Amino acid sequence: MNEIKGRVINVSNRLPVLIRRHASGTRLERSSGGLATALEAGWRDQPGVWIGWAGATPDESIEPLLVRAARRRSYTLRSVALTEEDIAKFYSGFANEIIWPLFHDMPSRCNFDPEYWATYQNVNRKFAAVVAETAQEDDFVWVHDYHLMLTAASLRQAGVRANMGFFLHIPFPSPDIFEKLPWKQPILKALLEFDVIGFQGDRDRSNFVSCLERLLPEVAVEYRTPHLLVGLAGRRSVVGTFPIGIDFEAFEHDAERPEIAAHAAEIRKRVADDVLVLGVDRLDYTKGIPERLKSFRLLLRRFPEMRGHITLVQVVVPSREEIPNYKHLRREVELLVSQINGEFTEPGWVPVHYIHRNLGREELLAYYRAADIGLVTPLKDGMNLVAKEFCAAQIDERGVLIVSEFAGAGPELRSGAIIVNPNDFSQVAQALYDAAHMTAEEKRSRMRLLRQIVKDHNVHRWIRSFLQAVPSSDQVKGGSGSASWSELDGATVGPPIASSFGSVVRVDQKMPGVALLASALSPRTRPRYAMGKDAKLHLLRSAAGED
Ligand code: ADP
Ligand code: F6P
Repeated sequence: MNEIKGRVINVSNRLPVLIRRHASGTRLERSSGGLATALEAGWRDQPGVWIGWAGATPDESIEPLLVRAARRRSYTLRSVALTEEDIAKFYSGFANEIIWPLFHDMPSRCNFDPEYWATYQNVNRKFAAVVAETAQEDDFVWVHDYHLMLTAASLRQAGVRANMGFFLHIPFPSPDIFEKLPWKQPILKALLEFDVIGFQGDRDRSNFVSCLERLLPEVAVEYRTPHLLVGLAGRRSVVGTFPIGIDFEAFEHDAERPEIAAHAAEIRKRVADDVLVLGVDRLDYTKGIPERLKSFRLLLRRFPEMRGHITLVQVVVPSREEIPNYKHLRREVELLVSQINGEFTEPGWVPVHYIHRNLGREELLAYYRAADIGLVTPLKDGMNLVAKEFCAAQIDERGVLIVSEFAGAGPELRSGAIIVNPNDFSQVAQALYDAAHMTAEEKRSRMRLLRQIVKDHNVHRWIRSFLQAVPSSDQVKGGSGSASWSELDGATVGPPIASSFGSVVRVDQKMPGVALLASALSPRTRPRYAMGKDAKLHLLRSAAGED
């Protein structure tokens, strides 16, 4: 690991604060979304700089507001000025009408407008220009998320020498999906300009490597534990899995506060003895909200005895409202809520309570504490921090978590949660029924386990493990890298051929027999080889760690 001597410069599309213009003036708000929540919590006492967009077109009111916001923080805030056209074509367009749906396996929702690509490149250069003005050689530049995949390439062109990392907060798709992107090769090549490339889960990382393998056959991949090394044109990058977490202690501590307990009791009083099911999401089509409502409707149809005894509180924070898909989603969700309430409401009981606004932290915690079931059913999600926040706030260990197998949190929390396929309404309805009838003892033991996992895999560990993966400069730029990497220097990498273990391996023409890539095997079981000084091929160990 390379010890970071200078500052960490976080770069993301959004700053943790958002400037909103109202008729009455300009106001600062908290940015919503997992990235802002996690980074803000993880960076609370760390020095450094956070570079991003302040959520509005620039004017003279922005800087004083950011200076004020930075006074309450340990790091400074620097804004990147975006024009109306940038916001439309880079943020709404390329980022959220192309990459967002594509990376969430929803290519039919993509609008591959070529003008978006030109603006995306241009805006990535704008971000890079602000970073270049800010970063010194010893600093570590940590770029976050899909809006800024080209930043390192621009910075390298500008001669910036700082180490750079990239973390993708959303999923990375399989090659069959990714290759639909007209600009796939330039994006992959630009990503390889980062020294560390991080993903939420093993599936995302192996999809990325499979895309490299299919679309950039000249790339060499070496499987190591815990991270992979990827090389292209004399550069090397560490590619790893770093599941993001939350500030468990802060959520737990705040949930214990008497005001939160009182607020939670107030919420509970309103639903009497009903089982309170809670959904909390940005209003996004990846979150599976219509599917969740249909599952809830199926529960009420299939188990009439649950009517009058179970209430779904669905909280949505408005998001990306300029984009047509999001406008349609809002109409669809609101229609479904009114249909379900129209079908089942009885005097004294309304089955779905729908809240369409950004909740303050206190109110959010009170809902988490009051709920009996946390229902987190995205169709696809990088991680989903709501699932983790729900567990952290469940200090009474009364609640049950139902989570989608397609959220990054699914595999991580599988030992304590009920795992569902959100497209299987019948399974979700049954899971709700089972959770509502679970014994207090089973709930407690499951929630205890979940809370331990969330506590261990917290946001501080995420930051630490990512920064620990930053390679020293000789590892990324050549020199005293590992034996197998130095073997690779200057070697011509030949075309992929079928290997004896049935997958495709890329063979170095100068050293036939060196198995550099065994992509068909899972990262856990994949063996790793290196050419020893004796010119023989040695099995190092499998990625699972056995010798
Ligand atoms: P995403 O990053 O896609 O929005 P996550 O579940 O990872 O999804 O993160 C969402 C974050 O936004 C969480 O920290 C959650 O507390 C917050 N959030 C979601 N909905 C609301 C809401 N209605 N009010 C306040 N915060 C919300
Ligand atoms: O965590 C995923 C993410 O896309 C972040 O990158 C983003 O900031 C957040 O969700 C909210 O979306 P937006 O910034 O478009 O409001």
